[in-house]
Amino acid sequence: MFSSFPVLTAEEAASLIHNGQTVGFSGFTPAGTPKAIPTAIAARATAEHAAGRPFQIGVLTGASTGPSLDGALAEAHAIRFRTPYQSNAKLRALINAGETRFVDMHLSVLPQMVRYGVLGPVDWAVVEACDVTSGGGIVLTSAVGAAPTYLNQAARVLIERNRRHPPSLLGMHDIYEPADPPVRRAIPVYRVSDRIGTPIALVPPSKIAGMVETDAPDECGAFSEMTPVTERIGRNVADFLVFEIAAGRIPKGFLPLQSGVGDIANCVLAALGTRPEIPPFEMYTEVLQDAVVDLVEQERCRFASTCALTLSPPAMGRLTQNLEFFRPRILMRPQEISNNPEVVRRLGIISMNTAIEADLFGNVNSTHVMGRQMMNGIGGSGDFTRNAYLSIFSCPSTAKGGRISTIVPLVTHVDHSEHSVQVVITEQGVADLRGQDPHERARLIIDHCAHPDFRPQLNEYLDLVRQGHTPQSLSLAFAMHRQYESTGDMRGIRWEEWRK
Ligand code: COA
Repeated sequence: MFSSFPVLTAEEAASLIHNGQTVGFSGFTPAGTPKAIPTAIAARATAEHAAGRPFQIGVLTGASTGPSLDGALAEAHAIRFRTPYQSNAKLRALINAGETRFVDMHLSVLPQMVRYGVLGPVDWAVVEACDVTSGGGIVLTSAVGAAPTYLNQAARVLIERNRRHPPSLLGMHDIYEPADPPVRRAIPVYRVSDRIGTPIALVPPSKIAGMVETDAPDECGAFSEMTPVTERIGRNVADFLVFEIAAGRIPKGFLPLQSGVGDIANCVLAALGTRPEIPPFEMYTEVLQDAVVDLVEQERCRFASTCALTLSPPAMGRLTQNLEFFRPRILMRPQEISNNPEVVRRLGIISMNTAIEADLFGNVNSTHVMGRQMMNGIGGSGDFTRNAYLSIFSCPSTAKGGRISTIVPLVTHVDHSEHSVQVVITEQGVADLRGQDPHERARLIIDHCAHPDFRPQLNEYLDLVRQGHTPQSLSLAFAMHRQYESTGDMRGIRWEEWRK
């Protein structure tokens, strides 16, 4: 393919974007995210600030990004407003300091919010492509994210053509944007592998202001080695799913899996792959991590529908060198479809996400440390959890060297309520909360998920607060958190001292 759009330097492209404008970037996680133009915007912001002029933009993305986007722009104090998800340490600090406005939202609803104008006009779409036609056909790279919506909604478009991704990625994307209510029709994904859209995104050529040529790998980090704790969590999830197949609550042919982000999710998938009782499975997920590439190669994973290929450079290299094998087995969709509640419910997804903390009743906090400090955001975890056939949350039973219990009387922020969370799993064991009342849930979670260092004090708490449908004490519910804030340790609480 070829295109005839003006070729710009990243600096020339950045000079077109003005203070106060909103930019919708392609990508989802560091995969598929533009790198050169946001870095040049950051340099421009730094220069403008040095000259005493304001320069900040609104940043819309698919999800988190890499150091060249959130990292560089945050370092330059160039982000006025950010949504829907982030995971960058510098940006997190600015958000928690109140400098950057951040709206944490379900990833599936973002494109619709953009189309209805809730987030204001989108001035620019900046997208990474591996190929572009002169008619405005764009072959995206390692993610779709919300790029189709940004391309449709933005007044102008800039393209980063990244040669690191081969044009032969053509055919790995399925671009589909639903009509908006009240005329929306069913989204016709009936099987994980159903293609419902087109392999390329289309944009009127007149909107394309120029193209920047790049050659840069995605900035996806490698995964940490398995630890005994993450290995144990993975094993517990696998044991539970095997048990559910044997009990007839999961069909013998299995159900499609969604798996969250991070090391734990990677370990869980690796563990599932090793269990002969689990048949070759499919994934309907938003992020595909390294473990899935192995599982697809081993034909343990038959098909994976995802929004992004969040792969370390070696895993991405293996995939692009063997596209003839992977193309019929992996499909990338817009986040509005990869995370779509209608499709998740229809397909009967088994969702597996990670918690920061869970309470005795199954409410889960995935986003806020001590109820205040934003970690990353809810991401797609709510899209899947609320609509899954089976929703699982896992986490280590303790954090910060054992000083924090991730099992607490009441979570300090609720992302997923007890009504949506069905199973909690730590390295200690499994609490299946389905069909259990709040008293039964609390006993199960303490006995099966809490760390032995915390079980006695959590049992004491329950003994103190027996009354009510949900046993709870307004004065003691956050005592473990309050003790951590004053002493740096949740262990050894004396409940009576906190009754004030
Ligand atoms: N209190 C205080 N800190 C806690 C904590 C708690 N209860 N639980 C974890 N932490 C800290 C850890 O110590 C660690 O801190 P560090 O970076 O300073 O070492 C940090 O939080 C991350 O914990 P970790 O165990 O490494 O978790 P993770 O990398 O698996 O991430 C989430 C866990 C919840 C933050 C992450 O999964 C997330 O952002 N989830 C929301 C989005 C989502 O689920 N998307 C899925 C759809 S794909």
